[in-house]
Amino acid sequence: MRPGWPLVSSVLAREHVMASTFMNLSAEHREHIDREVEQWLSRMTLEEKVGQMTQFSSDRDTTGPSLKEDVEEEIKAGRVGSVFNAFDADFTRRLQQQAVEHTRLGIPLLFGYDVIHGFRTIFPIPLAQAASFDMDAIEAASRIAAAEASAAGLHWAFTPMVDITRDPRWGRVMEGAGEDTLLGCRVARAQVRGLQGSAPDEVDTVAACVKHFAGYGAAEAGRDYNTVDMSEWRLRSVYLPPFQAAIDEGCASLMTAFNSLNGVPASCNGWLLEQVLRQEWGFEGLVVTDYTAIMELVHHGVAADTRQAGQKAVLAGVDMAMQDGIFLEHLAGLVEAGTVSLERIDMAVRRILRVKAALGLLDDPYRYSDPAREQALLLAPAHRLAARELAEKACVLLRNEPCVLPFSNDIRRMAVIGPLAQDAAAMLGPWHGNGHAEDAVSLHDGLALRLGEAVTLDYCCGVPLESDVSSADDIEAAAALARTSDVVVLALGEDNSMSGEAASRARIGLPGRQMALARAVIATGTPCAVVTFSGRPLVLSDLDELPCAILHAWWPGIEAGHALARLLMGDAGPSGRLPMTFPRDEGQIPIHYNAFSTGRPLDPEEKYTSKYLDMPNTPLYPFGHGLTYGQIVYQHRALSSRCIRASESLVVSVTVANTGAHEATEVVQLYLRGPAGDVVRPVRELIDFKRITLVPGGAETVCFVIEAASLRYEDAMGNQRLDDGEYHLYVGGRSDTSDAITFHFNKQD
Ligand code: BGC
Repeated sequence: MRPGWPLVSSVLAREHVMASTFMNLSAEHREHIDREVEQWLSRMTLEEKVGQMTQFSSDRDTTGPSLKEDVEEEIKAGRVGSVFNAFDADFTRRLQQQAVEHTRLGIPLLFGYDVIHGFRTIFPIPLAQAASFDMDAIEAASRIAAAEASAAGLHWAFTPMVDITRDPRWGRVMEGAGEDTLLGCRVARAQVRGLQGSAPDEVDTVAACVKHFAGYGAAEAGRDYNTVDMSEWRLRSVYLPPFQAAIDEGCASLMTAFNSLNGVPASCNGWLLEQVLRQEWGFEGLVVTDYTAIMELVHHGVAADTRQAGQKAVLAGVDMAMQDGIFLEHLAGLVEAGTVSLERIDMAVRRILRVKAALGLLDDPYRYSDPAREQALLLAPAHRLAARELAEKACVLLRNEPCVLPFSNDIRRMAVIGPLAQDAAAMLGPWHGNGHAEDAVSLHDGLALRLGEAVTLDYCCGVPLESDVSSADDIEAAAALARTSDVVVLALGEDNSMSGEAASRARIGLPGRQMALARAVIATGTPCAVVTFSGRPLVLSDLDELPCAILHAWWPGIEAGHALARLLMGDAGPSGRLPMTFPRDEGQIPIHYNAFSTGRPLDPEEKYTSKYLDMPNTPLYPFGHGLTYGQIVYQHRALSSRCIRASESLVVSVTVANTGAHEATEVVQLYLRGPAGDVVRPVRELIDFKRITLVPGGAETVCFVIEAASLRYEDAMGNQRLDDGEYHLYVGGRSDTSDAITFHFNKQD
């Protein structure tokens, strides 16, 4: 560690998170587990140890090349410690029997799976969940995901994905919480709490796995798996805190990233895995690689062959190899050659067995594989209800001009037009694991149920989702339908295969001829609400110029249609806020609200300032943006004091009123801008937020407490700074809110 770097980053210090223990075990429980693990370890041969450090995929479901054809034989030979992509109570029980009954020691397998946003009850994609700014709802969704997954025999979820990203071209933005570090930390914590529950040995919990360590979200040019090269300062202050937050919540495990970071691939990066993770943060959980990431060290050009790749990975701190079998092939030989110590192997196995012990598997290997629980829990009505409510909270009303939404209950004829209107399967998003298309409700079907027989609901696809050769006739037919309707809902967006892993896009607008369809339909003058679907921020500048409402739905999950129908008809109000900036144009990327100050801030009148010649600097929709059906007014911003010292705190209060005719949920956001210091600072940073619901005519005073800890940051050398001077606070409904209130900070008491 370089001298200055603080053990807890300033973002987390603000959040008062520092009390982690491995899986939140009590000291007594931990001692018991450690004794149990040492007993197992003392009986194991080197080959059995290496087997524990090996994970293979079942052929049920894979996210990459499948290398092992006969996993079951490997299990019986004691050459596997964990299997992923195998689930359901009966199948996992059968595989578990092979490990328990056929191997010499009978050590149970750990079953892992990508439970990304639900197991069978599919919730909105993680980026959409982050848009809810509702940590309780996110925790509840993760709790349900864990209950369902564990009932299907799973022990371990490869979640949360906490990669901060400022490049919407990257397809995996859909798996994370977006561009902001504070929001990313809070979402990570909520997900770990939900997955692991309060006691890891409760049978309805799973071990969490924070990923991908680290920097994956900053892949150059937004192209998946690409190089990452950034200063340690930026890495530590922006990209690493959500990992530390997850670990502070007791996260059981961590997955390495595919990318190289400042020249060293993350899966053999000893600085990341030993120094930062173990020494500085004290992480005691298990480190698994991403899919075949050790093998890829050869492609990265840092290992001449797979033996050297295995050696580099294990010495850097990897405990388990996912899918490439390289540990199985080479570790014993490396130990015998004296290149890798037995102590290093023992430490890895200890960490793996510790997770198995904490889950109660060493006492009862079959406790998770319970067909009756599986039957009762999967898709339980309460789970579907939670999925619908979170989908409602995740949708963001980007625009409502003219005021089209909510639709009146007096409408008698509605047209639903567009390539995504009837697509239920797409609603699950690109990576829904065990989600089933037949469980999902399309926008059209949700509206049909909500509107009933009193309203005529017509449908027209208009244009195919991607093609450029659609005949004008379909567009004409869609426009003709719009003309005879009271209102139109246009369902536009990406195909759901256009985001997720290995799904980067250079252009992130509406594909194909969808804009032509929108123009023709909106030109009819019939009030139109466009529902946009995607796994990332889109460039919607052309659409934004047309008179319409735009409700961004991301991928809302199985309850999509019901949630959207309720939002469109005003049974529920939109309350989501953007967790990522929507650019005007791809040329602005990377774009994020908390950019650093420059020496030549934008001045439209001055040539030599930081700007584009052909485009404003501002995005189309900034971070934090989202409208409601109410009329939100911020009144009476006040500070309890204009000056604070190190030992003091101050309270910022703001009265938020709803002067509109509909109930509204507002996400009140607090941003900070620091005074002159030794290093440049972001133009502003989110430091807190609160969701409040206001009835028509209602008002509430929201208070935020600011302490000296809220003002700390790291400088480029890693020193924690706390500057005297004038601070600016911005309280409002989005990141570009104006009207600063200022206070002075003075360290001297
Ligand atoms: C992804 C991981 C995932 C793993 C296992 C990889 O391709 O990058 O996020 O957990 O596959 O499915």
